[in-house]
Formats: sequence, C-alpha cells, structure tokens
Amino acid sequence: MTDLVLTEQQDQVLVVRINRLDRKNALTHDMYTALGDALTTAEQDKTVRCVLFTGSSDCFTAGNDLSDFAKGLPGAFEHTPVGRFLLMLATATKPVVAAVNGPAVGIGTTMLLHCDFVFAGSNARFQMPFVNLGLCPEGGSSLLLPSWVGRARAAELLMLGGAFSAEDADRLGLINRICDPEQTEPTALDTCHRLAAQAPAAVRATKQLLNRPVQDTLIDTLKTEGALFSERLKSPEAAEAFKAFMEKRQPDFSGFD
Ligand code: COA
Repeated sequence: MTDLVLTEQQDQVLVVRINRLDRKNALTHDMYTALGDALTTAEQDKTVRCVLFTGSSDCFTAGNDLSDFAKGLPGAFEHTPVGRFLLMLATATKPVVAAVNGPAVGIGTTMLLHCDFVFAGSNARFQMPFVNLGLCPEGGSSLLLPSWVGRARAAELLMLGGAFSAEDADRLGLINRICDPEQTEPTALDTCHRLAAQAPAAVRATKQLLNRPVQDTLIDTLKTEGALFSERLKSPEAAEAFKAFMEKRQPDFSGFD
C-alpha cells in the first residue's frame, strides 16, 4: 500500500490521484502497483463505470522516478509493476479519462494515448524525453503516436523529445479540451459522470471498436518496447543522462557512437 496514489469512488467513477508532489508526482514501482490495482478494481467492480486519472492543479506526473530508472527494471517488462500497469491500461474495457495540469512527462504523456478523454489545463506541458535520456519509446507510443498524429509528428516528438503545450496537444488531437487549471478536474469529472450514465455495455462496445485498429499489435508493441527499453536502461548513454539529471546539467552524448 502507498499513500502516494489515492483512490476514491465518487458515485460510479473511480478517481485515481497521483500524490507525490515533492517529487513532481514521479512514479515509483509501488505507485505503478497501486495504479495497476486501481485498474483491476475498476474492471472487477460492477459499481465502477469509469476511471479518472488526475494529479494536482499544477502537476500530473514527471514520469518514471529517475532514481528507480537508474537501478533498471526488476525483471521481465510484463512482470514489472510498470509493465502490468501499462498492459492493464491497454486492455481496460471501461472508459478511462485523464485530467492533466502542469508537467506530463514520459509515461505521463504516453499513458494519455490510451485514455478515452483527456482534459488539459492551460498550464499543461507534455514531453516524451526518452531519447534525451538515452532510452526509447514506451507505453505503446511507437504505435499509438504515429497512429493518432502521423509518422512525421511522432518522429519529431519522440526523437527530439521536446516539450509541447496544451495548445500544441489540442492541435495534434491528443486532448479533448483546454481548461483553466482549476477547472480541469471538475470538467473531466463531469465527463466521467456523463459516461457513467450512458448504457455501460454500449460504451464498452464503442471503446472496443475504437481500439480495434491497433488492438492486434498493441500488446506485442508494449512487450517489444519494454524489452528494448530495459536494455537501454543499462546503456552507457542512459547512465550519462541519469547522472546529468542528478547533477542538474545537460547530458553529454558527444563521446558515444
Ligand atoms: N524522478 C525523480 N525525481 C524527480 C523527477 C523524476 N522523474 N522529476 C522531478 N524530480 C524531483 C527533482 O529532482 C526535484 O528534486 P529536488 O527538490 O531534490 O531537487 C523535485 O522533484 C522537483 O523537481 P524540479 O525539477 O525542481 O521541478 P520543476 O518544476 O523545475 O520541473 C519537471 C518539473 C517535471 C519539468 C522536471 O522535474 C523534470 O524534467 N523532471 C524529469 C522528468 C523526466 O525526465 N522523467 C522521465 C521521463 S522518461
């Protein structure tokens, strides 16, 4: 159990709050376990019809905890807490909504590619800095991002790894609406309640059909990315990037080939 992820049921909506503000909501193994558990509860509990992922008014998540990354993944990807969480998210049958304010880095962005609705505060900053960290895409992003926004934009966002704004995300079609940061969560919650009031089997069938174009390859992509990501975590490039982050400097990749 961890109090760094809080769950609370509001009527038929399971609200899952990432709650580690002193570390910008960076996700540890225990936190991924709690996120996966929340999705398991949502799947099994008939009183839950929708899941909302949220953080605070100024932070969604800074992605994976970089100190954890530096130690590598504990085992084969699909058996790790992050692997289990991503596989559950990719196969969730009930609608998943996200309310995103402030930083949404790494998995903070890639998990949104699986969500059915994303509401972003005007202060949201998205980024997938995998290559910047000597890593490679995760979370199904090498399949979902080009599918949702096109190959050219996916290459730009994944290879250059720059941050982008709520307006950019809106233009790319990655989010549903930009909100005043204080209104992001209430707006998302309102949509959750509207989804929960819809015919549940019809919502599930619609989600299944919307996911169908990528469904066959998504699980394989997650596992392939996971294996490669695990290898990259052990690379000298990643070691330099993590060291640079801890030392609050830019990484120097000039010596690598
Ligand atoms: N893992 C571990 N610690 C993290 C973290 C992460 N992913 N992100 C932030 N933190 C820590 C910082 O080291 C800092 O700790 P300190 O107070 O001991 O120095 C604290 O959280 C606050 O972060 P800070 O960088 O000062 O906040 P900011 O508002 O200036 O910037 C971010 C926020 C998210 C833009 C910045 O923290 C960041 O880029 N983090 C790394 C994101 C990342 O690369 N994630 C992995 C993606 S694969």
